[in-house]
Amino acid sequence: SYGQTAKATISNDSKLVISKHIYGQFAEHLGRGIYDGFWVDKNMPVKKQDRIRMDIVEALRKIKIPNLRWPGGCFADEYHWRDGIGPRANRPKMVNTNWGGVTEDNSFGTHEFLELCNLLGCEPYISGNVGSGTVQEMSNWVEYLNFDGASPLTNLRKVNGHPEPFKVSFWGVGNESWGCGGNMTPEYYSNEFRRYAAFAKDYHDAKLKKIATGPSDADYNWTESLMKNVGTRMWGLALHHYTLPTGDWKDKGSATQFTEADYFKTMQNCLKMEELVTKHSAIMDKYDPAKKVALVVDEWGIWTNVEPGTNPGFLYQQNSMRDALIAGTNLNIFNNHCERVKMACLAQTVNVLQSLVLTKKEKMILTPTYHVFDLYKVHQDARFLPMKLDAPDYELNGQKIPAVNASASQDASGKVHISFVNLDASKDITIKANMGDINWNNVTGQILTSAKLTDINTFEEPGKIKIAPFSGAKKEGGIVSVVLPAHSVVVLELKN
Ligand code: AHR
Repeated sequence: SYGQTAKATISNDSKLVISKHIYGQFAEHLGRGIYDGFWVDKNMPVKKQDRIRMDIVEALRKIKIPNLRWPGGCFADEYHWRDGIGPRANRPKMVNTNWGGVTEDNSFGTHEFLELCNLLGCEPYISGNVGSGTVQEMSNWVEYLNFDGASPLTNLRKVNGHPEPFKVSFWGVGNESWGCGGNMTPEYYSNEFRRYAAFAKDYHDAKLKKIATGPSDADYNWTESLMKNVGTRMWGLALHHYTLPTGDWKDKGSATQFTEADYFKTMQNCLKMEELVTKHSAIMDKYDPAKKVALVVDEWGIWTNVEPGTNPGFLYQQNSMRDALIAGTNLNIFNNHCERVKMACLAQTVNVLQSLVLTKKEKMILTPTYHVFDLYKVHQDARFLPMKLDAPDYELNGQKIPAVNASASQDASGKVHISFVNLDASKDITIKANMGDINWNNVTGQILTSAKLTDINTFEEPGKIKIAPFSGAKKEGGIVSVVLPAHSVVVLELKN
């Protein structure tokens, strides 16, 4: 049915840029994210550089991932960087207490991570240990990474094979310091941030962008306190918000088996991101009207129950068409808030939570979420185009959510891209988008959809959900008329 029509008005009137760092990623020492994910056994029959899996690297290069956050997560606040440098055979082992109690052999450490970023062509984002570390330990790590002169630490870096400074810029001062990172109050953490940050130095052309532990979900008091007590001493304030299908941490819901009512509830929870970003931004505006401090959504995505039969501490979950709609919706929200949201990291890239890539021994598949990042890469560092959207509701059992969400940008070559998500499970929606004074002649598009919301890509059928050409858009004078199929993500390209 083409029964529903929505109106959009797109404006040319903005100088804001959608930072490419909104399309960032997060990879923790957790389950099969690093070990048996990015970093595999030397006998694994796949193309490797050292032990880095190159099929994953190539897939991620294709979608231009701009940054990678590491080593955690909760793991960051029990990680001691010196255990992960030098000859691998001599590296001490430790227990990963947060994630399955497994033994961490530290074979993937600082140099391996930075080599991975180098291969990916992305910027590293390192989270330092505040919870169980020391100021000196963090200060030394920064010197080891970034100092370009002679010092015992830079000599050690040379001995370990890297004479040049790494010039790491994104720097997390702890992680979830209100929880697994140390159970601190916002006032206590603010002081800790100030102390740790004071000794995490800028070295010549390696200036740190320090990112503070921010609020969990709707903890507005945390944001208020950090803005008051830390303010522009931080480059960014992190926000963590996960989409839980049921909303209940004890039983989050299945990744693959859900009804339309479950799906509807999941999308209600997903759309909370709009409210969270808006309200945290409003608090930040009070203390920082010039918008110097970035809101960094460095953990987001759907978090379901683990796949049956897998280690509950490993957070391995499948990825359905529903996940694609969640990714498209969150990315539209971040794009539309690009004045404040300058960075975000999906949790967690490979084999953990809402992954881009899943692996099984030497096999690798790309998830529906991967394809959304592929479709949306055109927004990276493009000029933001504000949009007014007047969309119908998607109604189920007397409840409503907006059926469509969207964002738009113009790239350096003048091409305009509009990303639409139709959340309605069963109805097509027609959009008439007025392009105002934007010059364009021709519209093409790409679509991601599937027969069922529960559809997934599997190792047996890896291409079930994939990007396809889209022919549902046409020019009607200055208006783009587009029919968005039910539960689909569509990205249009308008050019002369
Ligand atoms: O991403 C999984 C975990 O979620 C992270 O380790 C932690 O920061 C958050 O609670």
